[in-house]
Amino acid sequence: MSTGFSIFVTLGTILSMVGFFLLLYMNRKIENPGETTGHNYDGIEEYDNPLPSWWYWWFILTIIYGAGYLNYYPGLGNFQGIGGWSSVGALEQDQVLADAKYGPIYAQYRDYTLDELAETPAAVKMGQRIYASNCAVCHGADGKGSFGFPNLTDEEWLWGNTDEDIHTTILGGRNAYMNGWETVLGDDGIMEATEYVLQLAGREGVDTELAAKGAVHFGTFCIACHGADGKGMKIFGAPNLTNEIWLYGNSRSRIAHVIRHGRNGVMPAFEQRLGKDKVHIVAGYVRSLSNP
Ligand code: HEC
Ligand code: HEC
Repeated sequence: MSTGFSIFVTLGTILSMVGFFLLLYMNRKIENPGETTGHNYDGIEEYDNPLPSWWYWWFILTIIYGAGYLNYYPGLGNFQGIGGWSSVGALEQDQVLADAKYGPIYAQYRDYTLDELAETPAAVKMGQRIYASNCAVCHGADGKGSFGFPNLTDEEWLWGNTDEDIHTTILGGRNAYMNGWETVLGDDGIMEATEYVLQLAGREGVDTELAAKGAVHFGTFCIACHGADGKGMKIFGAPNLTNEIWLYGNSRSRIAHVIRHGRNGVMPAFEQRLGKDKVHIVAGYVRSLSNP
């Protein structure tokens, strides 16, 4: 916070504490003269008795405790407190403790292959927990994905499914790049290319004349990434277009939309957040999802 605001908060806090103390001190009464406040409601009078002394001293103690607390912990404006406590520091300390405790548990699986992990129930269970808190938001609790988020339980892999491919995907993340073809192909060209993609996928009722024109566009512009056979290339994360597994929808208009505008799916990197050992465990869980 700004210095001015910090001074405002600090002064406000200190002055109100002093104020409470003075209010208490000046209204203190030791004697019990049996006076009334003069208030009288339907014949019931209010006595002006002193505060019970336990209450009075308890209040003084809370003020002293408060002063000590604000001296030790950050609380007065920008003053950091002499204890050097911070929420980030406390979190880091917890993380160091957690790593010391759980680190070896994850590390024991370092030398397992993903298939071996997928067959080790204890490791799968751990992986499932890591998956639930880090991956399920995008890939779904069951791993089946949704629009734009790939299904991890099927046989199609944009970026490959060897142990190394899956590690690379999760550790470093992936950025898919497919540019839009609107300006190059024009409306007719998009329609033709869409028809050809549907033909590649084996769809019935395709207009073969349009598809034949689309095949020419495909041979010119698309094979660089999707391959001459349309089966995709994992180095680009370019999907296989010869089946009915679609990342961005299966309708003619959805497919035309991708070709027209392109797509840039992003899988975030997890090396920083999880570390290599946990990524390995969750990769084993991913393998278990697609192994029958
Ligand atoms: C630079 C490489 C590249 C080129 C060239 C390219 N694509 Fe793609 N294409 C991709 C990538 C990568 C994806 C996946 C995008 C993502 O995951 O966000 C994709 C996705 C698609 C999809 C969506 C598939 C699905 O599962 O929903 C279609 C359809 C498609 N491309 C068709 C084409 C056509 C037709 C052309 C040529 C006009 C073409 N692509 C050219 C890289 C390319
Ligand atoms: C913010 C959303 C998001 C989160 C969180 C996320 N992913 Fe992904 N993931 C994606 C997207 C989007 C793609 C596809 C990128 C593309 O279009 O090529 C992807 C791709 C993948 C792939 C490659 C799939 C293939 O077909 O090759 C794997 C494996 C994967 N994610 C695993 C994970 C795991 C494990 C986690 C948790 C540690 C995770 N993801 C968390 C969005 C996410």
